Amino acid sequence: MSQRDRGASFLEWLDERLPVAKFLEDQLLKYYAPKNFNFLYFFGSLALLVLVNQIVTGIVLAMHYKPAAELAFDSVEYIMRDVNWGWLLRYLHSTGASLFFVVIYMHMFRAIFYGSFKKPRELLWLFGMVIFVLLMAEAFMGYLLPWGQMSYWGAQVIISLFGAIPVIGEDLATWIRGDFVIADATLNRFFALHVIAVPLAIMGLVVLHLAALRTVGSNNPDGIEIKKNRDLVGIPKDGIPFHPYYTVKDLYVAGLFLTIFAWIVFYSPEMGGLFLEHPNFDPADPMKTPEHIQPVWYFTRFYSILRAIPSKLGGVVGMGTSIVVLFLLPWLDRCPVKSIRYRSPLFKIALTAFIISFLGLGVLGTKPVTETYTLMARGFSVIYFSFFLLLPIFSSVEITKEVPLRLTESILPLAKREGFQWRLIEEGIAALQHSPVFEKIKGLLSKLRGNHQGR
Ligand code: HEM
Repeated sequence: MSQRDRGASFLEWLDERLPVAKFLEDQLLKYYAPKNFNFLYFFGSLALLVLVNQIVTGIVLAMHYKPAAELAFDSVEYIMRDVNWGWLLRYLHSTGASLFFVVIYMHMFRAIFYGSFKKPRELLWLFGMVIFVLLMAEAFMGYLLPWGQMSYWGAQVIISLFGAIPVIGEDLATWIRGDFVIADATLNRFFALHVIAVPLAIMGLVVLHLAALRTVGSNNPDGIEIKKNRDLVGIPKDGIPFHPYYTVKDLYVAGLFLTIFAWIVFYSPEMGGLFLEHPNFDPADPMKTPEHIQPVWYFTRFYSILRAIPSKLGGVVGMGTSIVVLFLLPWLDRCPVKSIRYRSPLFKIALTAFIISFLGLGVLGTKPVTETYTLMARGFSVIYFSFFLLLPIFSSVEITKEVPLRLTESILPLAKREGFQWRLIEEGIAALQHSPVFEKIKGLLSKLRGNHQGR
């Protein structure tokens, strides 16, 4: 029996007991995805890639890390200096954490641009939102582990916020810390949650997220349901098999992404204090508060809202609400049209204002508190919340563009668009084709071809 036959018979043997090949066939070859995915559709598979990176590097880091207040900081230094390739493992993990949020924010904004949270994908969005909250919890707890000054004081500030909750607040904060201040008990429980409980929950939810996606099918930049238009054998007319068409593209983009990832890891792992904050290179000192306490960049927009509201309880409620409203998006947006391509200018303006406030709050959260910055943060917070408050109103009266029936028709409305000089473009191309320069190039090309064939 040749090696090839042996391989085939092993696969047959396996498939009779566990239908792996059938599963892959169903998921990749028989899954028809819309043919018009753009670059924003790569971020889902990139999120999977970063998740794997975090788990693999995290497991090896956990083999050398010591979750005890007396030992934690030194064990990280030991990983950086003495463990073989330890510095690389740590930088892959810390850079991965920041890039995870870059990828997830792009993934979420893509869903907002194309209305991917709307019927029938509400559950898919809700699973995504739970993943997002867990991801923030995972990053927050991971940040305590190096036991540096920012780890310690950042956790101190954020956990003390629970104290603002009336009646149960202080007890709740003590219960979370396991002590009256951040201490060994806090580090121990955060370690357990960071390496076991939360990653397990995230992985389970990613499976549910993908199962929900397969049930309803992918949306696309046109926001058209391709399942509504099938051929005689039931295949969506505007779909293409996920494999090889998108697996090849995903692989190519994964290569580009890993190149950027590697550049950061090798040349700028601290990213000027954005990915790894400078005070965190000093061991935690409960007696010395750092000059500015600020969270890592991916939390700063929510932290800005917290600081912008003068009362402590108000700030906590504001910060919590800024996340909770995202869960409600499928019910706040009442416009039947999904994609931003066919929505009104009003929606585009509102979304642009929201994105500016989202970015502005993010930048302000990294700055020290001054009167001007506080005023700006208040302005951006008003815009942030206004977007969600006004969305149900303007999305129900929006005048939208006509949505084409098929993905392939999406070019037609462009050609017909008022003021779009389609005829002029056609005439321009025709004139170019008959121009002497074009004729000369044609002549040269055919001469070249002749020479080539003559050889
Ligand atoms: C570990 C985190 C996550 C992973 C691994 C992940 C993975 C994926 C993958 C592979 C897809 C299909 C490819 C694509 O459409 O890009 C997808 C689709 C989707 N994800 Fe996620 N995701 C994650 C987090 C989130 C979050 C936080 C949200 C939003 C709150 C979200 C919302 C969505 C939506 C709405 C879709 C469907 C998009 C469409 O069909 O247009 N995901 N996800």
